[in-house]
Amino acid sequence: MRYGHFDDEGREYVITRPDTPLPWINYLGSEAYFGIISNTAGGYSFYRDARLRRLTRYRYNNAPLDLGGRYVYLRDDESGEYFSPSWQPTQREVDDYSCRHGLGYSIIGSSYKGIRGEALYFVPLGENLEIWRIRVTNDRRTPAKVSLFDSVEFCLWEALEDNTNFQRNYSTGQVEVEDGVIYHKTEYRERRDHFAFFACSAPLAGFETQRDAFLGAYRGWDRPIAVETGKASDSIAHGWQPMGAHHVKLDLAPGETREVIVLLGYQENPRDDKFDPAGSQTINKKRVKPVIARYLQPAAVEKAFTDLRDHWTNMLGILQVRTGSEHVDRMVNIWNAYQCMVTFNLSRSASGFESGIGRGMGFRDSNQDLLGFVHMVPTRARERILDIAATQLPTGGAYHQYQPLTKRGNNDVGGGFNDDPAWLVLGVAAYLKETGDTSILDEPVPYDNKPDTETPLYEHLQRSIQYTLDRVGPHGLPLIGRADWNDCLNLNCFSETPGESFQTTENKGGGVAESVFVGGLFVLAADEMAAIARRHGDEAEVKLATDASASMTKIVETAGWDGSWFRRAYDYFGRVVGSDECPEGSIFIEPQGMCIVAGIGLQNGMADKALASVAERLATPHGIVLNNPAFTYYHLELGEISTYPEGYKENAGIFCHTNPWIMIAEAMAGHPDKALDYYMRINPSAREEISDVHRCEPYVYAQMIAGKDAPTHGEAKNSWLSGTAAWNFVAISQWILGIRAEYDGLRIDPALPADWDGFSVTRRFRGARYEITVHKPKGAVGRVTRLTVDGRAVPGNLLTAPTRPGQSFVVEAFVE
Ligand code: GLC
Ligand code: GLC
Repeated sequence: MRYGHFDDEGREYVITRPDTPLPWINYLGSEAYFGIISNTAGGYSFYRDARLRRLTRYRYNNAPLDLGGRYVYLRDDESGEYFSPSWQPTQREVDDYSCRHGLGYSIIGSSYKGIRGEALYFVPLGENLEIWRIRVTNDRRTPAKVSLFDSVEFCLWEALEDNTNFQRNYSTGQVEVEDGVIYHKTEYRERRDHFAFFACSAPLAGFETQRDAFLGAYRGWDRPIAVETGKASDSIAHGWQPMGAHHVKLDLAPGETREVIVLLGYQENPRDDKFDPAGSQTINKKRVKPVIARYLQPAAVEKAFTDLRDHWTNMLGILQVRTGSEHVDRMVNIWNAYQCMVTFNLSRSASGFESGIGRGMGFRDSNQDLLGFVHMVPTRARERILDIAATQLPTGGAYHQYQPLTKRGNNDVGGGFNDDPAWLVLGVAAYLKETGDTSILDEPVPYDNKPDTETPLYEHLQRSIQYTLDRVGPHGLPLIGRADWNDCLNLNCFSETPGESFQTTENKGGGVAESVFVGGLFVLAADEMAAIARRHGDEAEVKLATDASASMTKIVETAGWDGSWFRRAYDYFGRVVGSDECPEGSIFIEPQGMCIVAGIGLQNGMADKALASVAERLATPHGIVLNNPAFTYYHLELGEISTYPEGYKENAGIFCHTNPWIMIAEAMAGHPDKALDYYMRINPSAREEISDVHRCEPYVYAQMIAGKDAPTHGEAKNSWLSGTAAWNFVAISQWILGIRAEYDGLRIDPALPADWDGFSVTRRFRGARYEITVHKPKGAVGRVTRLTVDGRAVPGNLLTAPTRPGQSFVVEAFVE
């Protein structure tokens, strides 16, 4: 069952009924000002940091689930009836409801008894504000008198404080209202130099800034007293819950449409110029007034919206494929790429499942996210790499997380996740392959952000490799530390205390627990290190990394091999994890994927065996589960993994992040049909038909789909902010379609299923443009055997890097 449809031309997902199984959200903003918005206009806004600079309130885990948002009310002033064009919060039985989620904007509207309302929500590029362009139409044969109310509830900036410290918060709220603009200025008189504004283009019949005055005592957002009576009281908030609402009266002739523009924004002032007049306590509005005046003009709004659309057209234009599969095309060309940019912007901070007050930026997460967006924003990827590397510790280890505002490592979480350093090598490798910009290796970068500790970035990579070499266990495999990619495999934490963090408690420190997964990851990273070192003219490092990779490969193939698959780990006692000997958790997906992606077992039959075991033990119609059998009781020695009920999250859930590793492995092992088959099982668009089962948005990946041991098998959770976005993008575009940036050029190495007869792709790469057509007879499953560039045959399947920008090439590739 579906709740809408894709509009591929318009690059939108059109939701046609409001009662989706879960709030289906979208993102506004792409630089500093952000918001999330659901299909019923729920959500919130923030400046840079969803915890520290929250503009508006939102109530997670509420009933209904999604409460607080950018709500608009339209009231028929003759009958007194009112509704919200976004359905929520009034929940009237509206006609022609639709929500069009596009790239960086949403358009939500509906009709009720002949009055139609629609709002376009977006953030103009380069601005710290959001626009609501509201259109109200009278579809009746008679004139209509309509009252429009907009509304937001301000957050007192620090979102966690805002949710906890009520003895203070109920007394601190402050606003100003000037020329109909509502300014939220809580704490501005003291240490803050920023405020929010809420403006409206139409003359006002009234306003509210105190929530209780707008809603009325004991009332909710579904029936505000001001809307019910059609009258705002011009309240000025003192303490309690500051909010903003404008009341606008519209007289509409039959068929007439009126446009009202609403702005919600954020503004900072210099510390010494906060007040106007100086010495007063009144906000200095000199800087913000021109911005407000500008965007209250319809022409400026229209232009900003066109600019936003063009921005996305340009960015997505870097890679466009035409494969004949709508699920592949719309994910690669639109939604998967878009999701990668959202993870770049927001890491794991704000979504329907991430409250904005939780995690900082993950070291491993951010490096992996990079794989999915480096081709779209290489300059920003470069900055991101340098930020991440600056949090690295002198040992080569890493803080597991850092804070986006301060860019400092997070001491509460600390380090010791022994996979973290290797991801930095992979992130940098991806950047070098895309851009060819080796100058990044010479950038001086500090450790732990400490002055005078700078070394070239290149040395950070060397230390990453050394970090693993310095920490190996009895089998020669890397020690796992607090956890590896699987945050919940906590082999050095035996936790019997409720509430204790599995990740940061190391009550069994100094153990010998080893990770086969990190072994595979290390081989991949060491091979990249060797390639980078070769281009850096460092033969000693080439040798070190190559030897290290070779010996780790041997160890993984012996101590890490279980007979039919790769083992997962060795625990604190040196006992094997992820082996046929283990009654629960006998096989795990991660080492099968990562070891083969690193090339281990491709020559000796291990890869094929491991992949057959994956197909047999882990694959389901909804994707590949993380482990099997699921853990049915708490294994003290394994940690958080066995705290989850069977089939959820790390305990045998379909952790979508890991599935593309298997897709890539299948492509590398020469099983293209299998690779695409696994791709389709979790492709959100391909799951659209079962939206009632999947429940999350059909246009983006979710972190997890409940596994076969769960009663809700097939149900997705934690959509949007997940490494799943980047890895699936890599699997489909670089390994299945096989268009892959390498150090020396663009590799054309598709692994296409038998029943495909080729595809075409436009790729911009290092300033040049490639129009590539891949020809393949149906039935064939081989690799590219011939390549022509502008009609001339070239050997191999690598297009050497362009020699000057602006070049354009027509490429034909032939698979036999
Ligand atoms: C979450 C974390 C990621 C981790 C994964 C598996 O997605 O953000 O860092 O690798 O869970 O535990
Ligand atoms: C990751 C995992 C989650 C775990 C968390 C701990 O996000 O997905 O299951 O609880 O890490 O920080």
